[in-house]
Amino acid sequence: MFDTVFLDLPALRAAGGTVRLPGSKSISNRVLLLAALAEGTTEVHDLLDSDDTRVMLAALRQLGCGVEQRADGVTRITGLGGKLKDDARQAELFLGNAGTAMRPLTAALSLLGGEFELRGVPRMHERPIGDLVDALAGLGCEIDYLGNPGYPPLRIHPVAHEGLRLDAPIRVRGDVSSQFLTALLLALPLASARQDVVIEVIGELISKPYIEITLNLLARFGIDVQREGWSRFTIAAGSQYRSPGSIHVEADASSASYFIALGAIAAPTPGQAGIRIEGVGADSIQGDIRFVEAAQAMGAKVESGTNWLQISRGHWPLRAIDLDANHIPDAAMTLAVMALFADGPSRLTNIASWRVKETDRIDAMANELRKLGAQVETGPDFIRIQPLAASTWRAASIHTYDDHRVAMCFSLAAFNPDGLPVRILDPKCVAKTFPDYFEALFSVSEPAAVPVICVDGPTASGKGTLAMEVARQLGYHYLDSGALYRVTGLAMTRAGLTATPEHEARIADMARALPLSFTDGKVLLAGEDVSEAIRTEAAGMDASRVSALPAVRLALADLQKCFRRLPGLVADGRDMGTVIFPDAALKVFLTASAAHRAERRYKQLISKGISVTLDGLRQDLEARDARDMSRSTAPLKPAQDARLLDNSDQTISQSVDQVFQWWEQVQPFEPLS
Ligand code: DC
Repeated sequence: MFDTVFLDLPALRAAGGTVRLPGSKSISNRVLLLAALAEGTTEVHDLLDSDDTRVMLAALRQLGCGVEQRADGVTRITGLGGKLKDDARQAELFLGNAGTAMRPLTAALSLLGGEFELRGVPRMHERPIGDLVDALAGLGCEIDYLGNPGYPPLRIHPVAHEGLRLDAPIRVRGDVSSQFLTALLLALPLASARQDVVIEVIGELISKPYIEITLNLLARFGIDVQREGWSRFTIAAGSQYRSPGSIHVEADASSASYFIALGAIAAPTPGQAGIRIEGVGADSIQGDIRFVEAAQAMGAKVESGTNWLQISRGHWPLRAIDLDANHIPDAAMTLAVMALFADGPSRLTNIASWRVKETDRIDAMANELRKLGAQVETGPDFIRIQPLAASTWRAASIHTYDDHRVAMCFSLAAFNPDGLPVRILDPKCVAKTFPDYFEALFSVSEPAAVPVICVDGPTASGKGTLAMEVARQLGYHYLDSGALYRVTGLAMTRAGLTATPEHEARIADMARALPLSFTDGKVLLAGEDVSEAIRTEAAGMDASRVSALPAVRLALADLQKCFRRLPGLVADGRDMGTVIFPDAALKVFLTASAAHRAERRYKQLISKGISVTLDGLRQDLEARDARDMSRSTAPLKPAQDARLLDNSDQTISQSVDQVFQWWEQVQPFEPLS
């Protein structure tokens, strides 16, 4: 997951390969609640691990359910059998921004008999729940608003089942959010011990496919619901939740929309037949799978089988679309970005529910599409988007409104024909449903060019610390090229070789095949942690000697180039900006006076209990500088186009800030406010 302030996606030009998608959020949270209400243990396979499922799991634990997350990825839920234990009749539950937890838990807890407070993040307190509370109150449940009437936070009081008014149908509005009906359908079997429970929907029911998911999963848990059209639902007297024992969660069809769109937009990577999506197929029980039809209408070529989809570019540019998107409200956001690549203006209608989701999605999409340069028109329940011609795209910083779907669908703008990067602010918001979304995107995308920042400088200038911090803040990979020479030196010594011309070819062969990996800040050689071993003074000397052998430098060049991967690289070391990545977008040459560097090294060594003198260190450094600068192979010298940064009197964070200022200067984005 990218836990950075922003993530810059370089321009992408092609895509191909296979992605496995995480489990569906809608199915995951419904299954968790049903397993919690049922008797016995349910093994849930492929459960989504995300913010919304985590708050649900935490709530279920508080309510006394057994929750065991096994190492093999299976989650075991031991349910309540429809009854709360005595020590779980009071709780304060925090439900984040998860509508799929807030709404069904409100209904279930109103019927389970206890004192509960349900809260969420501020945005959750702006998302309506009044229609559900009204329906439950009509039944005889007691629920108070703790903030604004009609919105969470809520307090739920216990009621006796005998007091519930089940003779008349329970009436609920269906035109604001289908989650209200889902919540009632999931919870009301709790009240059906002695008589049928009837629910009537008032007004047009929106997002019907989500109700299909609810009914399908209820059936898996032994509850049959009779439905008359989309307006009347009957739960039979005596219904009881029965665990299916084990259940698989389908991959998220809404998440699939980004990769379906990717296959439709991106030129295929040579040798690949488009994008293969695993975990969900056209026979999915999720309504958003019908996004496939919309994508096909716009030009995508789609093949499908059980649990897989294969997408490639068909009609190009995409065909404009005019669609009533009520049946695919979440996935339709992806169409709004695809519309930028179309041959005319596109219109999505009947999407008023966008305004009460994680954010006001109609306004959010319009604002951000406009930043890319598009002309957009909106109304209470529609959005109309003009496509962008080549040469009219703008490099934009996309605000994501703490809305995972805004972040994911705008990543597709990186396929713009103008070669512009796209900056996604707060990229970690994708954690709501797809924590590794960007990693998955990168795994199938081919960039026009991966940006590189090079940092070089004399020994003890702090270049490693600076480079690592810049990499961390940008979410980029980090290459410590010195470590490669150090590991080669270590491998040489262990093999009984010396850095002499007669051993040069053999050392170079070893360097070419180094079984090396950088994992969790450790350097592993054939699985062995050599992080400490390569940092000794002796290892430094060996590194210095092998690094003077031209054949070794050549052997390590290819290995170093492999580190240039999406979304970007910060590389530190001698010839990064001159030989390995001469096209780096930014080159920094970090210096500090010998006196300052000696003092830093002195503190470092003393803290490790190594006894040295300041004068001695300073003389060593000056001698090493002179040797490094005058040596014939890869001498220490700034690349011609490097920016010099003397950090003698700077803290690390001041140097990092300076590098960021330079970085922004070479980016096409508006400055961050
Ligand atoms: O940065 P460091 O101290 O870990 O580097 C170890 C040795 O390798 C040092 O003598 C410089 C050399 N080196 C090099 O020649 N080229 C690089 N790209 C990185 C390091």
